[in-house]
Amino acid sequence: MKKHNILKIPYVNLSKQFEDEKKELLNEIEKVLSSGNYILSDEVEKFEKNICKYLKVKFCIGVNSGTDALILSLLALNIGPGDEVITQANSYIASAAAINAVGAKPVFVDVLDDQTMDSTKLKSVINSRTKAIIPVHLTGRMCEMDKINIIAKKFNLKVIEDSAQSFGSKYNNKNSGYYGDCAAFSTHPLKNLNASGDGGFIVTNKKEIHNFVKLKRNHGHLNRNRVKFWGMVSRLDSIQAAILNFRLKRVKKVLSKRMENAKLYIKNIDKQNIYYPDFRKNCMDTYHLFVIQVKKRNQLKKYLLDNKIETNIHYPIPIHKQNFFIKKFKNLSLPNTESQAKKILSLPINQYLEKSQILRICNNINNFYNNYR
Ligand SMILES: Cc1ncc(COP(=O)(O)O)c(C=O)c1O
Repeated sequence: MKKHNILKIPYVNLSKQFEDEKKELLNEIEKVLSSGNYILSDEVEKFEKNICKYLKVKFCIGVNSGTDALILSLLALNIGPGDEVITQANSYIASAAAINAVGAKPVFVDVLDDQTMDSTKLKSVINSRTKAIIPVHLTGRMCEMDKINIIAKKFNLKVIEDSAQSFGSKYNNKNSGYYGDCAAFSTHPLKNLNASGDGGFIVTNKKEIHNFVKLKRNHGHLNRNRVKFWGMVSRLDSIQAAILNFRLKRVKKVLSKRMENAKLYIKNIDKQNIYYPDFRKNCMDTYHLFVIQVKKRNQLKKYLLDNKIETNIHYPIPIHKQNFFIKKFKNLSLPNTESQAKKILSLPINQYLEKSQILRICNNINNFYNNYR
């Protein structure tokens, strides 16, 4: 078949999701619009209750983004100027930006081969200013939370899980969001449980965190006229909450399809030329991203694009290597983070891919490396 006759395989397919859900989803949106109740409505409360049930946690507070979920978590734990918080430089900028936003200093540790936090490196960056650790469950694969929590306990540090990419993931049979003092989730349109705009939420089993965030996200309002402390506006929007309530009912299917897609890749890509993380016992990776690590990454990416296959890189420049950080972190060496940035490639993994499309991607990857040998 000639190349121009081949259909493009898109990296994401949000318009297909809308097409799929249109009739029922528009009905849900219409209900909110016709209720005239748009701010912190029943839909938001219903969503918070649904999440508590799904993730088996006591409290959930809907906020307007994953970034705000991290910022509000840090504020709830009283972290601010003069404090240091440890996180990963291979994450999306938001993980470190949230630390900066509360006036604290982000400190980076290196990662394991599978891109999760290397707990053995934590001790070397802990000092008297260190207040918390933010492990990032990047791609939907959870960090080794048992090991991280042992160190946190020993040094009296708080733990905030950056669960933005890991809704529904499990580590040692426990959900993402179980292990930290609290956890921050994003419902950005590209996430597995996605809104059609910005959104996020915090989960916690701690009443004091819940009580603080609930007021803080809404200008500190105790009621219409009374304010307890300075707050901000970071409420989950009611229309987005309605969309999320609708999609939450279907999310198990979305996660299963993504896991099925990952298995198909693993079965059909020639293992000689790529690395991907192993399945771990009692864990569930939910594949917000399916990342392989390869030699000649840029050439492979171009080859795939020439063959009408869109891929992505999450993220090509580690946070400490961003121009505005270079001066500050010029002596920082994170060998795994830095070498992975040159090797990682995110393949399409969305739930709308067909088996034949995944096989086409695998064939193309195998052909690329066969021709290079
Ligand atoms: C690891 C990680 N943390 C935090 C965020 C921030 O979430 P949001 O975009 O909803 O603010 C994201 C979003 O992409 C993320 O991937």
